[in-house]
Amino acid sequence: MKTKNIISQSSIKYDKNIDIRLLVTPYQNKRLPVYDWYSYKHSFSRDLVIKLIEENHLNGEDKILDPFCGSGTTLLASKEIGIPVQGIDILPFSVFISNSKLLRYDKSYIKNAINEIEDLFQRYDKYHEINDGERDLLIKFFPEETLDKVLFIRGWINNKNDDQIKHFFLTALLSILEDVSYTRKDGGFLRILKEKKIPDLKSVYLSKLHKMVRDIEFINNLPDTDAGAIEGDARKTMFEPNSFSAVITSPPYLNRHDYTRVYLLELITGFVDTQEGIKTLRYHSVRSHVEARRKFMVYDYNPPKTLNAILQRLEEISLPNRQIIKMLEGYFEDMHLVLKEIKRLLRPNSKVALIIGDVRYGGIKVPVGDILINLGNNIDLKFKEKITARMRGNSPQQMKKYGREPMEENILIWERE
Ligand SMILES: C[S@@+](CC[C@H](N)C(=O)[O-])C[C@H]1O[C@@H](n2cnc3c(N)ncnc32)[C@H](O)[C@@H]1O
Repeated sequence: MKTKNIISQSSIKYDKNIDIRLLVTPYQNKRLPVYDWYSYKHSFSRDLVIKLIEENHLNGEDKILDPFCGSGTTLLASKEIGIPVQGIDILPFSVFISNSKLLRYDKSYIKNAINEIEDLFQRYDKYHEINDGERDLLIKFFPEETLDKVLFIRGWINNKNDDQIKHFFLTALLSILEDVSYTRKDGGFLRILKEKKIPDLKSVYLSKLHKMVRDIEFINNLPDTDAGAIEGDARKTMFEPNSFSAVITSPPYLNRHDYTRVYLLELITGFVDTQEGIKTLRYHSVRSHVEARRKFMVYDYNPPKTLNAILQRLEEISLPNRQIIKMLEGYFEDMHLVLKEIKRLLRPNSKVALIIGDVRYGGIKVPVGDILINLGNNIDLKFKEKITARMRGNSPQQMKKYGREPMEENILIWERE
């Protein structure tokens, strides 16, 4: 039993009174240095991680895993406290953003590079030369002149061939793509709004860079703790058994959001330059949207009775898309693999905290949290607690059709005995 309370012994500031309903959203991250470098729509907030670390008595001797690390909230918060941490995500863009928040930067080197970019902006008034695969994939999302600048900056970063420059300047570029394009991230969709008023890229980019420079002190003062993210699949990882002593994570919700669509511009701008590459990521993500496909064969999985009953009811009613039924089946099969993999990677007496929301299709509630508890029981993860962080209203369309029935968003706690 660990007794040392690492939070109260450290100089970490953490607001115990912050509303847990906000902590399961990215609300707080948008106001914090470095956490706000990239606004990831699917994040939870820093203090949720700190709260879970405190309540589960984790300390510097632990090693935390986040197998769905997204933009790295678990990683940065754990590093702030000085607990070694490892992230995994299937999207190269997410891994990159996470790692950008864990590096150290030489402030004067970065400032000089910003001056260089400012200078180049002043000298050039045409940026046409770059013509590659990315341009064709990106052209419909930007005014032509803005896209020229995006590709120009990307080319400049690549030419530098330097890790610090790449992480700092590409993160800044990725973080402004939504602002300077015709797109708007809207739930699980990437909307194109041709009438959108688009600001000048140069001023948006430079102001982001200057803001990030002010955060260098914060990032350089973080403890020198082992922290990083790698590309991989949460269902099957390359880590040895017993490598970790805690998991703090949030898998994709069963809400049909396809991350390869929501973050399409970011993926193409820095990481994947063909449609095929995007499709591979789309097909290989956890089956939380209808286009994802089975990636791994599963031989030891029996769907829980509650799930079978829901699937049966869904078969009998009309749905906007029949593939939803297959998605539901696939999602829980994938989550069975995820929980098994988590169990394999954890040492005895480890804790798992998993944040997840319930959903509803065709007016039928899918209690995702309860079904996951069931899956955990089947593989002998000891269920400890379900903390309901908030109740979420359903979409206006669903509400009109089926009435108001708020869905739970829960934090599930298990112990690997
Ligand atoms: C809810 S988000 C996590 C957000 C994160 N907690 C944060 O604060 O930024 C879920 C993540 O799971 C990733 N993902 C989807 N399928 C995956 C898989 N098979 N293996 C690993 N990551 C996956 C997505 O790319 C996405 O970043």
